[in-house]
Amino acid sequence: MKHEELKKLDRQSILGTYARSDVSIQRGKGAVCWSEEGKRYVDFTAGIGVNALGYCDPQWVEAVAKQAATLQHASNLYYTEPCALLAEKLTAKTGLRKVFFGNSGAEANEGAIKAARKYGHEKYGVERFEIISLENSFHGRTMATVSATGQDSFHRYFDPFLDGFRHVPANDIEKLRAAVSDRTCAIMAEMVQGEGGVIPLSAPFVQEIERLCAEKDVLFIVDEVQTGIGRTGKFFAYEHFGVKPDIVTAAKGLGSGLPIGAIIFGEKCETVLAAGDHGSTFGGNPVVCAGGLVVMERIDEVFLEAVRGKAAYITEQLRKMEGVSDVGGLGLMLGVSLAEGKDAKAVVAACAEKGALFLTAKEKVRLLPPLVIGKAEIDEGLAILAETLATFE
Ligand SMILES: Cc1ncc(COP(=O)(O)O)c(C=O)c1O
Repeated sequence: MKHEELKKLDRQSILGTYARSDVSIQRGKGAVCWSEEGKRYVDFTAGIGVNALGYCDPQWVEAVAKQAATLQHASNLYYTEPCALLAEKLTAKTGLRKVFFGNSGAEANEGAIKAARKYGHEKYGVERFEIISLENSFHGRTMATVSATGQDSFHRYFDPFLDGFRHVPANDIEKLRAAVSDRTCAIMAEMVQGEGGVIPLSAPFVQEIERLCAEKDVLFIVDEVQTGIGRTGKFFAYEHFGVKPDIVTAAKGLGSGLPIGAIIFGEKCETVLAAGDHGSTFGGNPVVCAGGLVVMERIDEVFLEAVRGKAAYITEQLRKMEGVSDVGGLGLMLGVSLAEGKDAKAVVAACAEKGALFLTAKEKVRLLPPLVIGKAEIDEGLAILAETLATFE
């Protein structure tokens, strides 16, 4: 279907919750995708940090297709191998103990919130239900995760929101200490605030969260939905800070294009959710997990070293660009602040016209390329961005 025809059909029938770009994508390969009309785009979005291995990685496609032709789904009442193998890989990678699979990032965080509440209730009573999260955070769009999200723009229309969330400013150790009380059951944070503008936390602050959690028997939950699975140059972003969380949530890149969410529980809370406490019809789906196994196999130390190298190269190129005032982020999760007067949304739209897809985060241009992006594609996309910025009023 041609772009204009598709756009018309979509607008007619799809709920208008997304401000779609004027782009339709019909197929992709690696870090490049094409419209039905054959327009080519180099991709710095990876489906918002999802397609870690790029579009249609051959090994991933083969594993997924083979699994789909063998067993596409079985309920969680039965054992299936891909799910058990993927969980084993995640626990081996993290040193944590147990995994629960769901279907999205929000769902993973939702389960982590439930687990934290049950942990608090069982050990200290029902008054211990409060979860501290950070101002400017983003944890998802379900009622619990939107309540955890520390941005006022998300706290409209749907109230009453869930009780029991407190938001403290990122990197403010004193305010964090003051917020922890006998009612606190968990502290939850992204290591780099993604939707909030690609802002990494400071190491002393992250280490203080870990220390406080250990001292007060509070669960340390790290939301690695966007930062995880190699995105920041380590398998999980918390590794940059030398800490060990009690709960890690992952999604996006873990499936590299199929829906998955995972909650990984450490020793302290590995038994807190028991039979009947939580569940998901599709969680641990064999096709998704077969793809996830390829992702886990491919993202090894050599792969991560390459991610760090690409990140350093892109950052250096961006810093030299006319119209760029600052570059922040971690690994291949980058936020570009523009010189005054340059509007990130308009810049991203103009780049798309010229054949390069970028994202925005708040007032920044955001780069979340597939982790497998090559040098030629990086140069091609950055040349388009540079040219656009140079000519943009
Ligand atoms: C840090 C973080 N947590 C949670 C979510 C929600 O994930 P999902 O859209 O898969 O529900 C996102 C999505 O962008 C995210 O960036």
